[in-house]
Amino acid sequence: MNAIAFPPVASAPLADFQPAQAGADPVIILDRVSKAFRPRAKGTPVVALEDVSLSIRSGEIVGIIGRSGAGKSTLVRLINGLEKPTGGTVTVAGVRLAELSERQARQHRRRIGMVFQHFNLLSARTAAGNVALPLQIAGESKAKIKRRVDELLELVGLAKQRDRYPAELSGGQKQRVGIARALATAPKVLLCDEATSALDPETTEQILELLARIRRELGVTIVLITHEMGVVKAIADRVAVLESGRVVEEGPTFEVFSAPKHPTTRSFLQTLSSAKLPDHIRTALTGSAKGASQAVVRVQFTGPQAEQPVLSRLARMLAIDINILSGQVETVGGRGFGTLVIAVPSDSASVEAVTAALTRLELKAEVLGYVA
Ligand SMILES: Nc1ncnc2c1ncn2[C@@H]1O[C@H](COP(=O)(O)OP(=O)(O)OP(=O)(O)O)[C@@H](O)[C@H]1O
Ligand SMILES: [Mg+2]
Repeated sequence: MNAIAFPPVASAPLADFQPAQAGADPVIILDRVSKAFRPRAKGTPVVALEDVSLSIRSGEIVGIIGRSGAGKSTLVRLINGLEKPTGGTVTVAGVRLAELSERQARQHRRRIGMVFQHFNLLSARTAAGNVALPLQIAGESKAKIKRRVDELLELVGLAKQRDRYPAELSGGQKQRVGIARALATAPKVLLCDEATSALDPETTEQILELLARIRRELGVTIVLITHEMGVVKAIADRVAVLESGRVVEEGPTFEVFSAPKHPTTRSFLQTLSSAKLPDHIRTALTGSAKGASQAVVRVQFTGPQAEQPVLSRLARMLAIDINILSGQVETVGGRGFGTLVIAVPSDSASVEAVTAALTRLELKAEVLGYVA
């Protein structure tokens, strides 16, 4: 086999990173990948992944969402070469992982940064010492290590905490150290396996903002493994939904959010707080129009109509009263995504007229139930 040339690692200053380019070449390609684990004792092999094909472009943030046991961590271990697929091929940064020797694979892993749920910091080393570790392993000079560690701690906002030990840092700060360490060898790809799952919502938001900035400023491709739809919604350009080792749905985040196809995707979307109805409405909701005065309709604004006075026009056009029960506009995949829950008269003619009018306006309308 020919020797595989590796780009120099660890020596690139942060400024050497190229910013993300739209439509750039794929940096991670999974082609019909399967992974079966043979049990140590007797029994049939566990199929953790089956026929998974994914192509992730340079500079993208891709969310991989799935329930416990869906195969998310297995996917991560295949991408960073810690496991070999039992079928198909994994190519990262142009290198087919299965063809690498053990030594080459170790070197290749420096092009891939890992961020873990429980940070995995060394408790006997300071923040700076933890970030320095991969550079020491790579055999960098002391001067270079110091310069780079300072740069990285500055990037993640921890310059002042450089000499603190993990026990003296908050969860969010520990994860910042974890991210700085993952970036030490100037990786092309950052794999985050449930990186925010141990953090509170506010800290999660800050860490996601940091990851988004890292992509923006350094052009690093980010794969986010998560079981939380909120994480995907916040920063992923694209999302793949994993269920029992298979990708059941995949696409740009906004499209998957506005028109989910697979039941698993839908149930993940139900977990978003924005999808939940206010309690007093939810408890009053019934399935039958009998004896009810109002129908509760959810309207989704995803297009240019989001900025138009749709409801007042609708009320005038149909000569009915419309009550707004709840509403919000959020950002999904960088675009505005509005949800309104309205109440309209419950007679079938009114409900039909409203849903037909909304559909004509290219708004998605769904009757959730009825209230007295
Ligand atoms: N080394 C192994 N040997 C045998 N089975 C394994 C091994 N690693 C994972 N599995 C099995 O493969 C399946 C997928 O596991 P994986 O850890 O990838 O799931 P996950 O999506 O990361 O779940 P979680 O959200 O709980 O972390 C599970 O059924 C698991 O039991
Ligand atoms: Mg896992």
